[in-house]
Amino acid sequence: MDEVREIVEAVERHHRWLSECLPMIASENVTSPAVREMLVTDFGHRYAEGQPGERLYEGCEYIDEVELKCVELAKDLFGAEHANVQPVSGVVANLAALTALTEPGDVVMGLRISHGGHISHHEISAPGVRGLKVEFLPFDEEDMNVDVDAAVRRIEEVEPRVVMLGASLFLFPHPVEELVDAVEAVGGYLVYDGAHVLGLIAGGEFQDPIEEGAHVVTGSTHKTLPGPQGGIILCERELSDAIDEAVFPGLVSNHHLHHVAALAVALAEFKKYGRKYARATVRNAQVLAESLHSEGLNVLCEHLGFTRSHQVAVDVSEHGGGAEVARRLEAANILCNKNLLPWDDESEADDPSGIRLGVQELTRLGMGPSEMEYVAELIADVVLRRRSVDEVREDVVELRREFQEVKYGFGDGVGAHEWPRFAD
Ligand SMILES: Cc1ncc(COP(=O)(O)O)c(C=O)c1O
Repeated sequence: MDEVREIVEAVERHHRWLSECLPMIASENVTSPAVREMLVTDFGHRYAEGQPGERLYEGCEYIDEVELKCVELAKDLFGAEHANVQPVSGVVANLAALTALTEPGDVVMGLRISHGGHISHHEISAPGVRGLKVEFLPFDEEDMNVDVDAAVRRIEEVEPRVVMLGASLFLFPHPVEELVDAVEAVGGYLVYDGAHVLGLIAGGEFQDPIEEGAHVVTGSTHKTLPGPQGGIILCERELSDAIDEAVFPGLVSNHHLHHVAALAVALAEFKKYGRKYARATVRNAQVLAESLHSEGLNVLCEHLGFTRSHQVAVDVSEHGGGAEVARRLEAANILCNKNLLPWDDESEADDPSGIRLGVQELTRLGMGPSEMEYVAELIADVVLRRRSVDEVREDVVELRREFQEVKYGFGDGVGAHEWPRFAD
């Protein structure tokens, strides 16, 4: 019993602390009460190997109904011909896409980590597991984006089987339209990893990679798309069998059915509130960036309006470096990541030049432009003015007191009256 108490108390301490923090880690979000309720249903105890209607297990009648609804909602929101909602994470979604589209020994191209690329585009992760060789896409450090002309030349030279766009530090839309012909000309596929920006895409605020020609879109379901933790793959019809088989039996046996139910609710919410939420998120990111810049911080890409996503990148190398700044901010209850920037040596990932700030969760908690200006002031207090972190923390706790409900979803705030409670 003592052990259980220790566990529960640690979780409670986490909850209490997080409710007094500014959560600005760009890869996270909070789910609505309606989504959370799906996560504790009996779906989390069951097996449903295979596709709806073709399961290897009995007892799946209602599970099929929910998964089919989830797939339909995903296809509708993203304008995709096919959706697979079974990957248990974004990395698994990427590995499934690479499994479906490549043979061991093929070449895949993606961005370096210091250029924003994710480990799952690199040999240490999914491409290595599949036995692929990785070549890097040329990058324009000034514009924080793929260098299109150099990339086309490199694709012609390297003849990759897959080019992966999308990133973890992802400020501006990537050149899908500009690269897809070159990729197809060498017999390759363009995979767009939308893990970070799926919500902005579904909300019509970033780019539409499917419309622009991506053959496959992968992603996590829990960043700007505020669903349960998990993964998703969207693709054209002719790739659907290859993708489905790469996921099952390739990479999952059972998938996490309670997450599918929760994702279905999250997608239904997004259909209703997603446009408003995505617009507010990008606006908040731009106001935060502008305000940090006015405070005197070195925010990247002023010449491009700083950002068109939920993220803001700041070079803090003159203020102690990314690791120290992120630690000081954490002490003031402001949570963000240290982040490699293009001019960093990747072997120095422990102490990079930058920090990455995300506003998607603050937006979901109901914060708007005036709060973003105040958040920028608090960050500058810590980073530039070296105000005591204890004092700043008091201001953060005070600010958070007003922002405890999850907005843009069913079950709290705006959506309360529309939520058919599970237990009713
Ligand atoms: C671009 C990108 N792809 C994939 C992932 C991995 O997603 P997951 O953590 O769901 O496996 C991440 C994680 O942050 C990411 O940034």
